[in-house]
Amino acid sequence: MDHQTDRVRELLDELTRGEKLSLVHGHVDPTRTATGYLPGVERLDVPDFRLVDGPLGVRVPGTPSTAFPAPLAAAATFDPELSRQKGAAIAREARALDQDVLLAPGLNLIRVPHCGRNFEYFSEDPVLTGAFAAASVEGVQSEDVIATPKHYVANSQETDRAVVSADISERALRELYLPGFEAAVDAGAGSVMTAYNRVNGTHMSEHGDLVTDVLKEEFGFDGFVVSDWYGTESTVAAANAGLDLEMPGVSMQAMMTPAMEDDTDIDDGGDLDGERSDEPADEMPEEMDFGELEGGMPDPENYDQFGAALGEAIDAGEVPESRLDDMAARVLGQMAAAGALDGIRASEASAGSEDERSESSGARTDGALDTDEHRELASEIAARGQVLLENDGVLPLADDADVALIGPNLDEPTLGGGGSSETTPVEATTTADGIEARATSEGGSVTVAQGVQRIEDKSIFDVGEDDADGEHADGGSDADVSIDDAVAAAEAADVAVVVVRDQATEAADREDLRLPGEQDELVEAVAAANDRTVVAIRSSGPVELPWREDVAAVLASWYPGQADGEALAAVCYGDVDPSGRLPVTFAPESEYPASEPEQYPGVDGTATYEEGVFVGYRHFDAGRGEATYPFGHGHSYAAFEYRDVEAVDESTVAVTVANVAERDGREVVQAYVRPPEADSAADELDRPVRELGGFATVDVPAGESARVTISLDELAFQQFDEEQAGWTTTDGEYAVEVGRSAGDLRLETSVDR
Ligand code: BGC
Repeated sequence: MDHQTDRVRELLDELTRGEKLSLVHGHVDPTRTATGYLPGVERLDVPDFRLVDGPLGVRVPGTPSTAFPAPLAAAATFDPELSRQKGAAIAREARALDQDVLLAPGLNLIRVPHCGRNFEYFSEDPVLTGAFAAASVEGVQSEDVIATPKHYVANSQETDRAVVSADISERALRELYLPGFEAAVDAGAGSVMTAYNRVNGTHMSEHGDLVTDVLKEEFGFDGFVVSDWYGTESTVAAANAGLDLEMPGVSMQAMMTPAMEDDTDIDDGGDLDGERSDEPADEMPEEMDFGELEGGMPDPENYDQFGAALGEAIDAGEVPESRLDDMAARVLGQMAAAGALDGIRASEASAGSEDERSESSGARTDGALDTDEHRELASEIAARGQVLLENDGVLPLADDADVALIGPNLDEPTLGGGGSSETTPVEATTTADGIEARATSEGGSVTVAQGVQRIEDKSIFDVGEDDADGEHADGGSDADVSIDDAVAAAEAADVAVVVVRDQATEAADREDLRLPGEQDELVEAVAAANDRTVVAIRSSGPVELPWREDVAAVLASWYPGQADGEALAAVCYGDVDPSGRLPVTFAPESEYPASEPEQYPGVDGTATYEEGVFVGYRHFDAGRGEATYPFGHGHSYAAFEYRDVEAVDESTVAVTVANVAERDGREVVQAYVRPPEADSAADELDRPVRELGGFATVDVPAGESARVTISLDELAFQQFDEEQAGWTTTDGEYAVEVGRSAGDLRLETSVDR
């Protein structure tokens, strides 16, 4: 037992019941910086503990921080190292703002393209998701901040997320929805957040089978399980199911009350008698009205389950006292792991004297906010995450091209969708500024035209506010924009670049996959005026592209964050090779799985995951729908040939990738595993045609080649057999297909199992 474990044990002996209860539910943060707050215990030197959002950057109200690209953009790089670096950078910013826990990564598997939070997640594939989740956790925790993979599990939609039951087979849970969480736990995640939704009828905050049996016992998770905000549904059932920490533990009104100069009116969590006294003294609640987000928002009354009520439940014998000890120990254990206890990381604390310890390398890191390095990383990911869906040769642009830059939101960066992941940057490059800077530096020119009405952001924080109706924050209005102006600009230019976007927020799904407003009409009109039209799409996930055959190039930029215009320019002008690949399939709405209302958004409170494991490319490969752009798709400005594939051993393949173009490029090599033919139908579950086994990104200079080795994940070989209740691997020969996407496989080898 190391020092800190002893320290946690000592603390448990000394903490009173009230102090332990105080450590397992949130309080009002006197500094109003944290999203969730636990006051320390001064007499025992237990420090305050702060939890903060989120996946795109640190969200501390009033304090800007680096606004990174959306996780989906990062996943499109297929380079988990960038996810590790991004996690570490966000964690450094969290430390600089005195935060201890980051409420990220979000890693729900993308099941439906409509989900309002897909941009916060990684992929429709569990192996890609797991790789990014693990890398993110490692990055965050390398900077003495605890990572919080969320939302455990099957929070696949925002419509009715607070109440809907995801009815899923165990096989689909095991093969698709759980592996990302297992990978995050294996990477050492110190905290896991439960989802709002129910799974097979039971709220995740009360799901003993999934929280205690699977997460804690089977996956070996020894950190704390925290509820989503206002997502603790009960006292006894939640505590006994294994939930360790209730957040935020204070009313919504108290959460939203800004810090006052004199905080004496607000309880700082020191009151352990069980009175609800976390409210500001004056003006208090009317009913919360969530308007169109109703059903996507949790019940704000769920904020006092693990305070006095938990003490009473223990007294009544309904929750064992040992459960409270375990809950408190798990929280304290993560304080220790992050170096928050005594300022020393648990992993590095020696058993030596106090003096020796404070001199050891285990001292906690201080962090750094919005450094040049963080800005550059945000820019690199934003550029490398862009996926070139189509290109008839118009890209890269000539340095001196005269460009018509067209679109409704060019005077701002597209930072993200609405909700708890909203991040405010210190500095950002708008789309127009980025393109103008690059164009004019080499003798080109840019004419800007808005074309159509601005697409407004949607956000849970605007609930109840009137729509701005074309009015901009700067007082301007959309009254005089017209498609004609955009067409005139396009006609006069060498090339037209149209930048379009969707509207997505937490707590609601996109109604459909079309671009909002008149953006499709705008693209059509510009494409008719200039046959060198490039479209860049800023979106939370797939969108429909009815005009795709009429334009010369299409780029999926996701939500690029603060580096918006700079990253777009880097790819358009070829300073960065577009090496992003699709982490989600693009298809028309009607072609996706879960297209029946019973499946999505659900009927009578239940969404039935009838499609089982046939989600994403597994669905399209089975011939159940037609993709526009398959999973893994994306062009480079270079050209690659694949040669000499071979199986190195039963879980590794190697292939040579030759860049036969005259420019350097970066390739994402993908290896998919196909199961052997079943001996008899009875023998075999209905299996996907192929599953991603592994991938690698590689820089290949012009005219050169590289040997690439790819490890294949066991998940691609195994199947979960509910009848035999467990993982099985069918004996036989597995084909391993290697190539550029699930729809463009170049070579094949095989491995025996
Ligand atoms: C979201 C979480 C977030 C939490 C705290 C919830 O609405 O679902 O992802 O971390 O709020 O802001």
